Amino acid sequence: MTAPGAQAIQIDGLRVSFGDFVAIPQLTFIARYGEVHGVIGPNGAGKTTMLDVITGKTRPKAGTVRLDGKVDLLGMDEPAIALAGVGRKFQKPSVFEALSVRENLETALRLKPRSILAEIRSWADPRRGTRVAEVLEEIGLSDLADTPAGILAHGQKQWLEIGMLLMQRPKLLMLDEPVAGMTEEETRHTADLVRRLRSPERAVLVIEHDMAFVEEIADRVTVLHEGNPIFEGRMADARQDPLVRQVYLGR
Ligand SMILES: Nc1ncnc2c1ncn2[C@@H]1O[C@H](COP(=O)(O)OP(=O)(O)OP(=O)(O)O)[C@@H](O)[C@H]1O
Ligand SMILES: [Mg+2]
Repeated sequence: MTAPGAQAIQIDGLRVSFGDFVAIPQLTFIARYGEVHGVIGPNGAGKTTMLDVITGKTRPKAGTVRLDGKVDLLGMDEPAIALAGVGRKFQKPSVFEALSVRENLETALRLKPRSILAEIRSWADPRRGTRVAEVLEEIGLSDLADTPAGILAHGQKQWLEIGMLLMQRPKLLMLDEPVAGMTEEETRHTADLVRRLRSPERAVLVIEHDMAFVEEIADRVTVLHEGNPIFEGRMADARQDPLVRQVYLGR
């Protein structure tokens, strides 16, 4: 159990550079359980880089990234960070096209390394089927459970991939531009889905350029500019903030 509002992820003094180029000079950032946290800002602001650091893909020059206020993720590799409860969705869906929606979700549970015996037991475990059914419901694809993922629409593939992440019950779920390339209808459905992802056991981080979408889903937004947080608060207030308007929204 986690205390409501407790820190899921806490970034301190983070510095990321690529050669001579400093993408993030010195970042402090907190995402809390029970919240959907939007991260917005102009192209090149360092949003994806921040996710890359959290997931272990990019190594920073300095700083700490703590999950649950304790483990420093920077001492861990990518698979260990994923196992610790960090799930991340990239923009391009990567579902197994030949497998059904249900099978894709089942596969997602198998990614934890375990003994073959434990693996076989887990397949027989009725809780497994229950979890798949829960997630199917959560992503709104129950009716398509037996459909091959390859014939799903773009939006449906994205929801399936969110479902695959949910199978692992991540403490921190991060979505990078989840509605890019979606129709209006798909974007609306995704907003509903993301709102339903809010849970006391989970923090959700969403990077997105679609401001109407962010306003619908986010409890809180951080505006990044050149790797610095220039605003944190409600989206409605970000829209009124002079600096935010100047560097991002006013364009
Ligand atoms: N591997 C890398 N090597 C060199 N430069 C990089 C690398 N990754 C990111 N950058 C640079 O770091 C800066 C931040 O990039 P990042 O992808 O984090 O921006 P972003 O906020 O996600 O932008 P966008 O909204 O366009 O996705 C950019 O100037 C980018 O060119
Ligand atoms: Mg990006």
